[in-house]
Amino acid sequence: MKKILVTGALGQIGSELTMHMRNIYGANNVVATDIRRIEGHETVESGPFEVLDVTNAKQMADLAKKYNVDSIIHLAALLSAVAEAKPVLAWEINMGGLFNALEVARELNTAFFTPSSIGAFGPGTPKIKTPQDTIQRPQTMYGVTKVSGELLCDYYFKKFGVDTRGVRFPGLISYTTPPGGGTTDYAVDIYYEALKSGKYTSFIGEGTYMDMMYMPDALNAIVTLMEADSSKLIHRNAFNITAMSFEPSQIAAEIKKHIPNFEMSYDVDPVRQAIANSWPDSIDDSAAKAEWGFNAKYDLASMTSDMLLKLREKLNIK
Ligand code: SER
Repeated sequence: MKKILVTGALGQIGSELTMHMRNIYGANNVVATDIRRIEGHETVESGPFEVLDVTNAKQMADLAKKYNVDSIIHLAALLSAVAEAKPVLAWEINMGGLFNALEVARELNTAFFTPSSIGAFGPGTPKIKTPQDTIQRPQTMYGVTKVSGELLCDYYFKKFGVDTRGVRFPGLISYTTPPGGGTTDYAVDIYYEALKSGKYTSFIGEGTYMDMMYMPDALNAIVTLMEADSSKLIHRNAFNITAMSFEPSQIAAEIKKHIPNFEMSYDVDPVRQAIANSWPDSIDDSAAKAEWGFNAKYDLASMTSDMLLKLREKLNIK
C-alpha cells in the first residue's frame, strides 16, 4: 500500500486506522473520507480529508482518481443494532457502498480491504471454536450484508482479479471513538461507566459469550493482512480473527480488580440479546495465523489495564 483511500474514516475503526496508517505510510498518503466533516478532529486535520457519501459511485470514483490511490480501505457501514432498526438503509449503505467501492477498485486496479464480522454467522453455525469455513446463515440484516459482502469480494477477486482481503472482526474495544449501534458495545460502555459512576447496567445478559479484540490488535491485523504475500493466502474474504472471548460478568470481575467498588446489574435488551445469541461464543482463527501470521497481543487483563489508564486521562478522572 502506498496511496490509500479510507471510507468511514471518522467511524470507530476509521478514526484510529487513519492515524495509524498515516504514521506508517506518511500523512499525505492516507486520504480520509467520511459522510461528514468534523472540524478540529485529528483525522480531518492531520492529512487529506474529503466528504464522501459511499452510495454516490461517481463521487467515490472521482476522489480515487484525484488522489491516484492504489489501495482502498472500505469501512463505511451501519453496525448490527442500527441495521436491525433500519434494514433498508443498511442494505443501501452496506451493500450499495461496498459495490461502489469494489467497482472503483476494479476500474483502478487497487488493493481492497473491507471488514466482515462475527455477525456473518448465525444460529446454525457451530458456536464453539467456530471454523473458518462453516455454515453462514445469519438472520439479521447486518449479517446478511456481511455474508453478501464476503461473497461479492470473493467474486471480484475470481472474476476480475481485484486483490480483495478481509477479516471477520469480533467486538472491537477502544477508548478513542465509541462504536455506536453495535451488539458488542456493552464491552466499551462498561469502562466509561465504571470510571464515571462506578456502576454499569448491561444490556447483554450474564453468560452470553462473544469474541472481542482491543483496537491496537485490530489495526495491526488490517495492515499485516494487506501487506501479506498474496501467494500465501488460501482464504481472502474473510478471515476469522479473535483475541479473547468473555461474557459480561467476566469483564466486570476484571474491572473490579482496578475499581473494587464497581457494581454491575442487568437490564437485557431483547433485540441485541437475540443478535448476540445468534453469534458464536468463540471463533477459531487458525487460518489467519497460518496464512498471514495474525497474532493478538492483548487479553482481557492487559486490555482492561490499558483501557482504564487511557480513559482516566481522557475523561480527566483521577
Ligand atoms: N461489533 C459489531 C456489532 O456489534 C459486530 O461486528 O455490530
